[in-house]
Amino acid sequence: MSTAISPTAYNYKVVRQFAIMTVVWGILGMGLGVFIASQLVWPELNFGLEWTTFGRLRPLHTNLVIFAFGGCALFGTSYYVVQRTCQTRLISDSLAAFTFWGWQAVIVGAIITLPLGYTTTKEYAELEWPLAILLAIVWVAYGMVFFGTITKRKTKHIYVGNWFYGAFIVVTAMLHIVNHASLPVSFFKSYSAYAGATDAMIQWWYGHNAVGFFLTTGFLGMMYYFVPKQAERPIYSYRLSIVHFWALITLYIWAGPHHLHYTALPDWAQSLGMAMSIILLAPSWGGMINGMMTLSGAWHKLRTDPILRFLVVSLAFYGMSTFEGPMMAIKTVNALSHYTDWTIGHVHAGALGWVAMITIGSMYHMIPKIYGQKQMYSVSLINVHFWLATIGTVLYIASMWVNGITQGLMWRAINEDGTLTYSFVEALQASHPGFIVRALGGAIFASGMLFMAYNVWRTVRASNPVEAEAASQIAVVGAH
Ligand code: HEM
Ligand code: HEM
Repeated sequence: MSTAISPTAYNYKVVRQFAIMTVVWGILGMGLGVFIASQLVWPELNFGLEWTTFGRLRPLHTNLVIFAFGGCALFGTSYYVVQRTCQTRLISDSLAAFTFWGWQAVIVGAIITLPLGYTTTKEYAELEWPLAILLAIVWVAYGMVFFGTITKRKTKHIYVGNWFYGAFIVVTAMLHIVNHASLPVSFFKSYSAYAGATDAMIQWWYGHNAVGFFLTTGFLGMMYYFVPKQAERPIYSYRLSIVHFWALITLYIWAGPHHLHYTALPDWAQSLGMAMSIILLAPSWGGMINGMMTLSGAWHKLRTDPILRFLVVSLAFYGMSTFEGPMMAIKTVNALSHYTDWTIGHVHAGALGWVAMITIGSMYHMIPKIYGQKQMYSVSLINVHFWLATIGTVLYIASMWVNGITQGLMWRAINEDGTLTYSFVEALQASHPGFIVRALGGAIFASGMLFMAYNVWRTVRASNPVEAEAASQIAVVGAH
């Protein structure tokens, strides 16, 4: 073991930048979520302006929460995890800095173009071709930084968290490039290279795997590092994590057709998508159980550690939404749930319960480390945040279940003479109380993010980033 300070300290600067932007975009994206949820309660909030209508702000919400909030969390934590588990500095500081500024530029581009109405109209792939090309370039640079760092690792094995992050990076590149193939006709208008049912299938192959790889596999990488770290226990089963990895990535890619039940897509493709979705329950739960069981012998820590609570409750919501998803993929169930708020409830069980909670827990673990602090400024504020997030999520999803089932049943109800029992407006009126509860739940969840911002600000203000890096040098040396 060498005693000299290694010149290859970890690059925490880029991790800090992404961590701060995770909180900033989280507040803006969720704040916008609360705003569009309020528009569904009080339509006057559309203000009669085209830029502020629900139709234009909704895709901005999804882009901000998925790509800005979720994306920054994934970039930041993957750079942190890959350095620490490979015991080496990122392969290139300038390329890493390029990914940070490039990614922020894509997000700012989304904030400008989406309210102006520039859109490909493909859900979660709305950005027009100049921004889509920038995104692809940044993503390739991300892959180079991540995999380049792995190649210069000082450890023999590649820790399983990196496998998940790696698969998320490779598959996201593939999905984005294939789904975005299009013919530009002007600077902000392009037409898809595919037509009809093929276009729909490519879009939902992309859309479902955006869920599968962006919102799931990447965050599982986070789970495999931060849950054992916070619990101070090794991962329950390394063998299970390998089986989990291969089963998950093999199955996810086939499940896209469950978004196109009862459409012009060939029936066999719909049934195949349904079957694959049901099988997907097994690896999803395998992963959840692996995370949960890591707490064996450490359950008592939940009484005092709100960070661990965030991480464990996120796994519980992951388990819940990956049970619900396969059920909704069954054609007869989908006949009731499709187009209703049930889907929206399912989305946010995953998005708030799983994605946001695992991110928040991981950030509370990581931020003190990268700012040279022992812990966050206030543990009790983390606890307050935990309860706001949990109550907010439950209100959101419970109201959407009630709304979804009500809508599904009212839409399909027919009289003896075959005419519809209810008009669409009657179903909408029945949904109004649920919309109010959802807006309230969302506001509660989003208010928790403000507590987080204050807590992070106080932690950063008391910090010593130079010390954090020096500590990482010692860690690198110590690990030799
Ligand atoms: C305070 C938190 C949030 C609130 C109040 C909120 C609210 C909303 C609303 C009102 C919609 C439109 C629903 C509709 O069209 O009927 C929506 C859609 C959506 N939100 Fe959120 N949201 C929040 C957080 C998040 C987060 C953190 C994520 C992801 C990580 C997310 C992902 C999505 C997605 C993917 C959709 C589109 C769903 C679909 O098309 O089926 N949301 N959200
Ligand atoms: C085994 C896992 C899962 C399966 C089989 C699954 C299945 C489904 C099904 C059947 C739908 C409804 C499609 C429709 O009727 O239009 C759906 C929608 C959706 N799910 Fe999942 N789900 C799973 C896990 C998740 C997780 C963990 C998340 C979030 C992190 C998520 C996010 C979404 C989103 C965003 C949509 C809405 C897509 C849209 O229409 O815009 N799903 N899922």
